[in-house]
Amino acid sequence: MSKVKKAFFCQKCGTKHAQWQGQCNSCKEWNTLVEEVIEKPAAKGWTAPDKAKALTSQPIPIAAISTNEEARIHCPDQELNRVLGGGLVPGCVTLLGGEPGIGKSTLLLQISLQIPLKILYVSGEESQRQIKLRADRINAKNDHCYVLSETQTQKIFQQINELVPDIVIIDSIQTLQTQYIDSSPGSVSQIKECTAELIQFAKKTHTPVILVGHITKDGNIAGPKVMEHMVDTVLHFEGDRNHIYRILRAQKNRFGSTAEIGIYEMQSSGLRGVNNPSELLLSQNPEHMSGHAIASTMEGMRPLMLEIQALVSTAVYGTPQRSTTGFNAKRLNMLLAVLEKRAGFQLGAKDVFLNITGGISSEDPALDLAVVAAILSSHHDIALPKNTCYAAEIGLSGELRPVPKLDQRIREAEKLGFDAIITANFKQKTLPKTGIHIIMRNKIEEVVYQLFG
Ligand code: TYD
Ligand code: MG
Repeated sequence: MSKVKKAFFCQKCGTKHAQWQGQCNSCKEWNTLVEEVIEKPAAKGWTAPDKAKALTSQPIPIAAISTNEEARIHCPDQELNRVLGGGLVPGCVTLLGGEPGIGKSTLLLQISLQIPLKILYVSGEESQRQIKLRADRINAKNDHCYVLSETQTQKIFQQINELVPDIVIIDSIQTLQTQYIDSSPGSVSQIKECTAELIQFAKKTHTPVILVGHITKDGNIAGPKVMEHMVDTVLHFEGDRNHIYRILRAQKNRFGSTAEIGIYEMQSSGLRGVNNPSELLLSQNPEHMSGHAIASTMEGMRPLMLEIQALVSTAVYGTPQRSTTGFNAKRLNMLLAVLEKRAGFQLGAKDVFLNITGGISSEDPALDLAVVAAILSSHHDIALPKNTCYAAEIGLSGELRPVPKLDQRIREAEKLGFDAIITANFKQKTLPKTGIHIIMRNKIEEVVYQLFG
């Protein structure tokens, strides 16, 4: 082994520094430099054995490159297909991030058991027995799903060369270790190097690779940001662990749109794709209570009806409480200020609790009107009209602002049996011909008058 070389890596952005310093030169973060031992032997990473389907790269005219869509590997999981833009592209490297316990391992094992191909599922976190126990809970069987418990990339490549799998799954990239770098697993240089080796393997053999990535406290994928640049697709699996619904989103996709989402339900037998999310998320509110409003929102390209619940009560302590689940707390404060200033409601001395049911969180501005309607309904203790939903953004002067894709929202509301939708007034020539009553209003006061007289 040659002389040991050391360098200091920023744990945030991965920039290499020759000596320690308090601030990273590149991302300007403080106290992020960590010393790591690096060694650079001549040959490293994945090397093609004769029997692997390795291809050597040569320049070809762009017109001569064939791109038939059939080449995509369609997953039996419709939600994943949708998020990936139609299936896995040969040679693509996908990174799946998410909070611990959200279901990343479950999702990938489930896919491994459903796709009728030869899959190598490498786990650095669980033993083969643990994976088998998990697989037994999932109702699927694939005799060509191989499980390997290993963390050394060179040993993994050795097994890959013997097995020649159609898809490789790595759970997780933070547990991998390459023998060419001497720092501990999960450090910036290890993650970067292991990702680079796997990408090299994927591109040369046209084998799709799916990596699981841990995320940090603030919701970013642990390790260098550069890893997200290196891979082709970055997916985020999110949701509230205490609820059953999970949303799969593409943050980056070199082979498809990032506007699509997949919705899953966590059951005792694994994850199930949800085709009709709106129907499941709406409670029927059978007793017709106050404080409930339905918002017609868009999550990516899909319309989604969300139920908002609000509770307004007199504050017992000096400072009124404002608490939200699934909705931006700052936005709630802004809406309360608008209600006070423009519509004359004195909510300053009231506690306001707001909840989007089902553990879903949404940033769609179209939620504003439903939030305001739910708050006022609870404030007056008067239930809102039945079978009415809301879709409009509220501006600072209390004006209702139109939201994009209104025709899709209206169609979804009609499909689910709503009678009316309250939205902003806007000049659109071609509103869809629907049986649903479209109520257009300009200002929040008009909506208040309409709802509470
Ligand atoms: P897991 O896939 O281990 O999460 P991650 O890999 O993202 O850390 O998911 C673990 C959770 O999923 C666990 O809390 C239990 C739940 N679960 C089910 O509810 N049903 C199932 O069939 C399985 C396998 C897991
Ligand atoms: Mg896991």
